[in-house]
Amino acid sequence: MKAVAIDGPAGAGKSTISRKVAQEIGFVYVDTGALYRTVGLYVIGKGADTKSADEVVPLLSEISVEMKFVNKVQKIFLNGEDVSDKIRLPEISMAASDVSAIPAVREFLFDMQRSIALKENVVMDGRDIGSVVLPNADVKIFLTASPEDRARRRYEELLSKGVEVDYDTVLEDVKQRDYNDSHRKIAPLCVAEGAVVIDTTGNELEKSVSIMVDTVKKLLNIK
Ligand code: DC
Repeated sequence: MKAVAIDGPAGAGKSTISRKVAQEIGFVYVDTGALYRTVGLYVIGKGADTKSADEVVPLLSEISVEMKFVNKVQKIFLNGEDVSDKIRLPEISMAASDVSAIPAVREFLFDMQRSIALKENVVMDGRDIGSVVLPNADVKIFLTASPEDRARRRYEELLSKGVEVDYDTVLEDVKQRDYNDSHRKIAPLCVAEGAVVIDTTGNELEKSVSIMVDTVKKLLNIK
């Protein structure tokens, strides 16, 4: 099996770009952020504090998270319910970032990520894929962009979905999540050893996609 690991901060275009790269090379796209979002969704639903390991860890035994692939499109199920849309709400982003700093949560989701890469050729995106989940990935990419660029993209994406937000709040959110994700003790966001860094600041989406597709194909020796 072949694996492409794509890591980077929130809003760098990872999921959109990774999905397109996967389509282009015929691999399955796996969005690992969705798993942390699903745990965050459950914890919020229970009214528990997403930052508190004491409150979150006992809830893990009540949670069943499943990833299913329908026509290569990932769907995510929480205790049997399809929550693929619900987990995209902005308030879930910070909850996901909070719970992802709890070691037991990372452990809980680890096997699911590993095992899918044993069965399928994957393009997997997250924060620790090249460093922890798939350290032997055939290709590792760290996809980044300036915080302002990332906030602008997230802002436009939310507006287009009809979610009311203001830009400054989104920018603060991006910066706060960057800080959380790169300062946690376990599996922090970092450039994995051997990763190629791609900075998409100022690029149109098509340009970033084409740079990524070219880089991945070259590194995988695909024509
Ligand atoms: O990629 P995303 O924005 O959907 O991820 C949501 C949160 O989940 C993110 O703030 C950090 C966490 N995460 C992680 O810790 N490790 C991953 N492999 C993927 C996401």
